[in-house]
Amino acid sequence: MVENKNLRNTGFLGILEHMAEDKKRLLTGIQSSGQLHIGNYLGALKPFVESYDKYESTLMVADYHALTSLRNPDQLRENIVDVVADYIAVGVNPTVATIFKQSDILEHTELAWIFECLVTVPFLSQAHAYKDKVSKGLDANAGLFNYPMLMAADILLYDTDVVPVGEDQRQHIEYAREAAAKFNLAYGETFKEPKEMILKDVGTVPGVDGKKMSKSYNNTIPLFGTDEAIRTAVMSIKTDSTAVGAPLNPETDITFQLHAHFTPNLAEIQKRYMDGTIGYKESKELLANNIIATISPMRERRAALSREAVIQILKDGAEVARAKASAKMKLVREKVGVALY
Ligand code: TYM
Repeated sequence: MVENKNLRNTGFLGILEHMAEDKKRLLTGIQSSGQLHIGNYLGALKPFVESYDKYESTLMVADYHALTSLRNPDQLRENIVDVVADYIAVGVNPTVATIFKQSDILEHTELAWIFECLVTVPFLSQAHAYKDKVSKGLDANAGLFNYPMLMAADILLYDTDVVPVGEDQRQHIEYAREAAAKFNLAYGETFKEPKEMILKDVGTVPGVDGKKMSKSYNNTIPLFGTDEAIRTAVMSIKTDSTAVGAPLNPETDITFQLHAHFTPNLAEIQKRYMDGTIGYKESKELLANNIIATISPMRERRAALSREAVIQILKDGAEVARAKASAKMKLVREKVGVALY
């Protein structure tokens, strides 16, 4: 593996210069809880890559959020490096976006505590993501319950304007707005209320069983899996029992919904669906080929990135994030009345 020198040609100063352009602030986060899937790619990574240079952008690895479900330290360490490598591989330039990990900036957990003292247990009990995860058998630990307040801190510490996420995170952004409003009401105007950025066609990418693609549903197509793993997952996509040669409905077919994001000649495939000249098996094989073709150049970029390069990116990003977060928390400590000297 070789270090990608282009990534580091401007370093910390380059990032600061970029920030000085007075753009709106965009921040998003992704948990380092396992291998990313194409739902993460379409719903979060790709929209980030397509818009991050128009904003003052920050990308955070939510490693403390991952602790709500992961108790394997080696795995967590590996996942953190992998998430950063995945973002660089799909096209994020770390001298333009600030990339850091949540646990490096202690102000996140500190501010989360302050928000937790402002919201009620019944209010947090309404979180769909919490209820959903517990119903799937995840441990109902207090970290999982308080999760939305840590996420609110992630967002509000940086005066974020927009948060690009998938549909499943919409309510969490509402929680962040609510935390800002509650704090502002109690202590005076301090936090900006952020807006979610959810792209219509990719808000909820379906998994192989038609439900939202999610690690906890075991229905994912891995983003940087081997060709074999991608093919196996794609071939397992659920279909109905329409006979070969009969027309297929592109609107209800999961494979076709995924073609829409990976297949260049979509209109032709759609016509073949309606004419009955393509079967599910051929459609899936085409989809797997197109996913692999999209991902191959990214895989090469990923392989060229060393672990040391990723760690340096995280260290540089932490410096930038820390400067902003510590200034904001100084103000917050004064406002709530704990700053004496
Ligand atoms: P996480 O790690 O579960 O998912 C990361 C991003 O991927 C999106 N996503 C999807 N989008 C479309 N279709 C799908 N099937 C799909 N599955 C996942 C998620 O919506 C998300 O945008 N709580 C966040 C992480 C976080 C965060 C933040 C996000 C922590 N702090 C601050 C934004 C701002 C989460 O668990 O995402």
